Amino acid sequence: MSTTAQIGVTGLAVMGRNLARNFARNGYTVALHNRTAARTHALVEEFGHEGAFVAAETAKDFVAALERPRRLVIMVKAGEPTDAVIREFAPLLEPGDMIIDGGNAHFADTRRRERELREQGLHFVGTGISGGEEGALHGPSIMPGGSTESYGSLGPMLERISAKAADGAPCVTHVGPDGAGHFVKMVHNGIEYADMQLIGEAYQLLRDVAGYTPAEIADVFRTWNEGRLGSYLIEITAEVLAHTDAATGLAFVDIVTDAAGQKGTGRWTVQTALDLGSPVTAIAQATFARAASGQRELRAAYAGLPGGTTPALSRTEAARFTSQVEHALYASKVIAYDQGWKMIQDAAAEYGWKIDLGAVAKIWRGGCIIRASFLDRIRAAYAADSELVSLLGEMEFAMEITDAQVPWRETVASAARRGIPVPAFSAALAHYDTLRAGRLPAALLQGQRDYFGAHTYGRTDRPGAFHTHWAQDGRPETQA
Ligand code: 6PG
Repeated sequence: MSTTAQIGVTGLAVMGRNLARNFARNGYTVALHNRTAARTHALVEEFGHEGAFVAAETAKDFVAALERPRRLVIMVKAGEPTDAVIREFAPLLEPGDMIIDGGNAHFADTRRRERELREQGLHFVGTGISGGEEGALHGPSIMPGGSTESYGSLGPMLERISAKAADGAPCVTHVGPDGAGHFVKMVHNGIEYADMQLIGEAYQLLRDVAGYTPAEIADVFRTWNEGRLGSYLIEITAEVLAHTDAATGLAFVDIVTDAAGQKGTGRWTVQTALDLGSPVTAIAQATFARAASGQRELRAAYAGLPGGTTPALSRTEAARFTSQVEHALYASKVIAYDQGWKMIQDAAAEYGWKIDLGAVAKIWRGGCIIRASFLDRIRAAYAADSELVSLLGEMEFAMEITDAQVPWRETVASAARRGIPVPAFSAALAHYDTLRAGRLPAALLQGQRDYFGAHTYGRTDRPGAFHTHWAQDGRPETQA
């Protein structure tokens, strides 16, 4: 078989198929392979007119069809299926060839695979791909890790097929070595969880406090989508809320079971953040809120227990409350994103990655699920100061958070008074107050730990670790 293909895709389920089509539509010759060959042929039959495909029935033929250095994209389920495909193809490749994993792999698996394949002279490029099926076909945001050398060969191809931001820039960058790409994709998904939960809490407040119908709330979100909250998630929220269920004629949102699913990337973000000691509290609350929503028996046991009171608002009060919720949603979103960027910084320090934080924002302006004009603000903030410790160190964000203080706090307090759960709003506000507090109850906590476990504590007036002899035996505190 002639070696004509610049790229190959194995694993032709929807994401893999659409990515292969995207490469072909952009002028590349694409080798195709799938465990079930029928799926390979079906793709060529249906979409062969879109570009040049080379259908391969065997792994050997697939590899033979690829020009050197071979670029082989794996689009299969994360975990063992990915390892199985690597085991099948790695022996057929030669030094300098590369395997690109476009699945939602855990970054620790990617780090392991990259190390193992590097020892065989192969490049392993764990690549986050965000934007779902549509994104894969029309232009996703792409987050490749792996070696700088691999990006030299692969990068221009990814830049051509990626989404383009409003300024025309491709939504792809070489994120960093080994698992950095999949790590940043994981954080993208964690932020996605927080963003979706915050939007959901805003919806519930407008429904239960402002007394608006789903259709009225859709109009509110359409208005918000024209302003600083404008984003893909806000845009589709308006569509979902405006949708009427064909079978019943009821508002679609009212016929959907209120138990959230999750494929796991948000959970990974929280687990990893705990290991890093990185407080992504808004992402964590969003992830736990998904779990809690599915606990039917527990919810049934709590149903009917006393809560708050929800006095109706007049139309004027409802409009005012809506403005408050917009401030609370925006402020909470800034905190949630700031937590995500801090987590990326914490991981870079832990794993020795040098990640351009502005570039991460830059490639998330288009193609991905959290795409928004807001991300260009973050890009600009890091472009102005690459050492920025927090988004709140940037004047405009700081001013917006200042403006939000009263409405943000009033929204959270109002929700608490009325018994409406806003775990992500509350977590974002508590995180903000934790970081701005002059003194935290951690001082008392250190005393407790020293009392029952002699774990020692620091003092405010001199360096060192100290232990108090709590047995009241008169002995002075000792310096550990
Ligand atoms: C993306 C999405 C995608 C995600 C699915 C399901 O960036 O295209 O984040 O990667 O896995 O949308 O996510 P959950 O089932 O975890 O909500």
